[in-house]
Amino acid sequence: MRAEIAVLPGDGIGPEVTAAAVAVLREIADRHGHVFTYSENRIGGIAIDECGEPLPKATIDACLASDAVLLGAVGGPRWSDPQARVRPEQGLLALRARLGVFANLRPLRVHPRLAGLSPLKAENLAGVDLLFVRELTGGAYFGRKTREGDVATDECRYSVGEVERVVRRACELALSRKGRLTSVDKANVLETSRLWRATTDRVVGEYEGITLEHQLVDSMAMLLLTRPSAYDVIVTENLFGDILTDEAAALAGSLGVSPSASLGAGRLGLYEPIHGSAPDIAGQGVANPIGAILSAALLLRHSLGLELEACAVEAAVDAVLATAELTRDLGGTAGTEQVTRCVIEQLRSKQQAAA
Ligand code: NAD
Ligand code: IPM
Ligand code: MN
Repeated sequence: MRAEIAVLPGDGIGPEVTAAAVAVLREIADRHGHVFTYSENRIGGIAIDECGEPLPKATIDACLASDAVLLGAVGGPRWSDPQARVRPEQGLLALRARLGVFANLRPLRVHPRLAGLSPLKAENLAGVDLLFVRELTGGAYFGRKTREGDVATDECRYSVGEVERVVRRACELALSRKGRLTSVDKANVLETSRLWRATTDRVVGEYEGITLEHQLVDSMAMLLLTRPSAYDVIVTENLFGDILTDEAAALAGSLGVSPSASLGAGRLGLYEPIHGSAPDIAGQGVANPIGAILSAALLLRHSLGLELEACAVEAAVDAVLATAELTRDLGGTAGTEQVTRCVIEQLRSKQQAAA
């Protein structure tokens, strides 16, 4: 097939990890007879420096004209002055809103070899297979913001329609898995959460075969550490989802291995690792590329419909995690390029074995 992929490397380790993901996509295209073309576009701090704004119109146009968007990360100390007129992160939020990608899928499994790196005991990690569905274009991130003298506000707003569509997506995903859905809110305090809970009850009631459980977010933060294998699909609002997914990523040994797919009503999706620009290690060639590479696998699956190819990438990553020298965050000494080469070699050897 032919596909156009917009690549938005961004800041910090963003360019390093997107280069790794693109190298893997090139290999997949060669091996499976696809023609992928790539456009490189600015977002975040580099876009502020070069164009004066974090999401230039040319980038939006390129994304809208593509089949999928692959993003690295945005932000860094250079653009983090609280007085700054504009911040890199605004570019990412504006892109998510513009693409209408309201459902952010963040899958999490713990590879057995990495279980020892998790702060939890390895025996508590057996069978962990989570899929977070984070609402991505609403809530406190997008409500009205004010700053008057000593007072600041961030309005948290949700409509029934915004909750319905993301819960529906979570239900469909739960049906393709174990059928268990946990909805996370703070309905004992927040009005938006009460609307969230009532809407979730109604929407889930339209489906057969789903077991729904509600959890309050504070308790969920604890449960993710005490019995992470008890959960399947976890749906929640934007800010809670941001926090819980970084917490859960620690179970897998490093933030560097977690991918994400942000999906809307159509096929066009935005794919990015869940980690940030990691300014502390940027430019050293030591960033873990696995989160970005697995995001490319999600791109193949969700935007291009290439399930076989997506599985091939995931299997190659599994094999690398099982046997290869890994990056520093996972206790190894390998660099970004070395790990990427190993993934590509795995793809080659698997293909040869199949031939
Ligand atoms: P971060 O995720 O960038 O880093 C947290 C820690 O994890 C650091 O010690 C970092 O070295 C490590 N880490 C992250 N990714 C890694 C990888 N691939 N390999 C090895 N180690 C890795 O979070 P932060 O330091 O809080 O944020 C830095 C900047 O990134 C901020 O400006 C923030 O706004 C931005 N950010 C962007 C995104 C995004 O673009 N999607 C996501 C999160 C944070
Ligand atoms: C993420 C990041 C972003 C978020 C920031 C950089 C805007 O933390 O993708 O998880 O909060 O959504
Ligand atoms: Mn985050």
